[in-house]
Amino acid sequence: MDDRLTTDATSDQDVAVAAHAGAGASRARKVYVRTFGCQMNVYDSERMTEALSAQGYAGTDALEDADLVILNTCHIREKAADKVYSDLGRIRQVKDARAEAGSDTVVAVVGCVAQAEGSEILRRAPAVDLVVGPQSYHRLPELIARTRAENRPLVETEFSEEEKFAQLPARAPSRSVTAFLTVQEGCDKFCTFCVVPYTRGMEYSRAVADVEREARSLVASGVRELTLLGQNVNGYHGVGPDGRTYSLADLIRHLAQIDGLERLRYTTSHPRDMSDDLIAAHAGEKKLMPYLHLPFQSGADRILAAMNRKHTAREYVDLVSRIRAAQPDLTLSTDIIVGFPGETDEEFEETLAVFAEVGFAAAYSFKYSPRPGTPAEKLGDQIAEDVKSERLARLQRQIERQQKEFAARCVGRTLPVLFEKQGRRPGQLIGRSPYLQSVHAEAPANMLGRLVPVEISSFGPNSLAGVIRPE
Ligand code: SAH
Ligand code: SF4
Ligand code: F3S
Repeated sequence: MDDRLTTDATSDQDVAVAAHAGAGASRARKVYVRTFGCQMNVYDSERMTEALSAQGYAGTDALEDADLVILNTCHIREKAADKVYSDLGRIRQVKDARAEAGSDTVVAVVGCVAQAEGSEILRRAPAVDLVVGPQSYHRLPELIARTRAENRPLVETEFSEEEKFAQLPARAPSRSVTAFLTVQEGCDKFCTFCVVPYTRGMEYSRAVADVEREARSLVASGVRELTLLGQNVNGYHGVGPDGRTYSLADLIRHLAQIDGLERLRYTTSHPRDMSDDLIAAHAGEKKLMPYLHLPFQSGADRILAAMNRKHTAREYVDLVSRIRAAQPDLTLSTDIIVGFPGETDEEFEETLAVFAEVGFAAAYSFKYSPRPGTPAEKLGDQIAEDVKSERLARLQRQIERQQKEFAARCVGRTLPVLFEKQGRRPGQLIGRSPYLQSVHAEAPANMLGRLVPVEISSFGPNSLAGVIRPE
């Protein structure tokens, strides 16, 4: 056939035929993805969506339109896991309504609840077709085809021997200025409250070359800031291009050489793995942001020991002093659990005292949630719900106070802001400060993706406002 004729086929009839043929032959299947939990799940959802789009799936925000529904789940606290089951109730109704209209729907539960509960999910939620653990999601396309062909639900929760990252397709071009990049997975620390070692398995570090390839492709598509992810990211020990084992500090220095990459961050870290070379990287590596998320969980030594955190409150405070000596501009955030079994009022006060002493600028705070299969679940002396609520409210008031104080101290300073997206008002862009605060300013659209000095003029509850300064 003559190519020119096909491209010139513009009569109404031809267009109608072409459109019809397209729809009949392969209507793009649609996938709806809902993500719960941590940044690693956000990253996994992106990789899953990319793998499925290579198979012809288009994303949708409308559950009713979805041929494939994926819930990427979190098991860390009871509430997080419960949300999955309430969602599945609604999904069942949509699936039934679609079936009546002649469309089938595949429902997949992926992630940490899938790993922890396995086939139990099928018993509780019969609308589910696939249960797939976090180490097996690269097999989703094949599992979807199998559940359809065999017309029965499937459970895949093995920690598969084949390496997930080697099986996934290369990264699709990113549409954002910032990106997550998982470099390490799993955890061997076994804190007594935590499900992660059971849901994500043992610690595993990706090879430097593999991480570098992904980083370079993200930067080539416009990414300027990378956040390296791992449940214990500072325990990273990947094989380097020269066969030597690279620490996280080595990896950071290696990636910092990528032209066009402006900023590096990493999360989440364990205090025990804050090595001297990582502290030195905070002093020497300009692209590494002066911001550190370092969970301390409790300020009381007896509770820290019962949690199996393997450090005391004083050791944590001393560690922070050493990192600040290397990088005086360092700003910290943390995670705290209130109401761990046996926590007394005095021990909770110690947590408040450490929080104030370190001068954290932000924190995530949680009520202890007993998790099935963890050692702490079996401890006596569980704390009453109203006591936990009252402690959490007090802690959160202090967190808010310190967050505000930190924002107030930024007013008058000129901070480099990486602009990421349009603001709510026309002519406004939104970006982030080195300390991860959201900053908005009047700025031309061509400053998107650029690091720009912004003089901070005021602050609100969740963001700073400022004015662009000449470079
Ligand atoms: N690997 C990270 C944390 C992963 S989980 C670390 O070691 O710090 C994120 C946070 O959830 C934890 O820091 C902890 O504060 C909280 N968390 C974990 N299990 C919990 C539980 N059973 N109840 C309440 N909070 C919990
Ligand atoms: Fe969970 Fe502790 Fe491992 Fe963090 S270090 S993931 S809290 S077991
Ligand atoms: Fe949740 Fe799994 Fe992350 S339990 S916090 S999604 S590692």
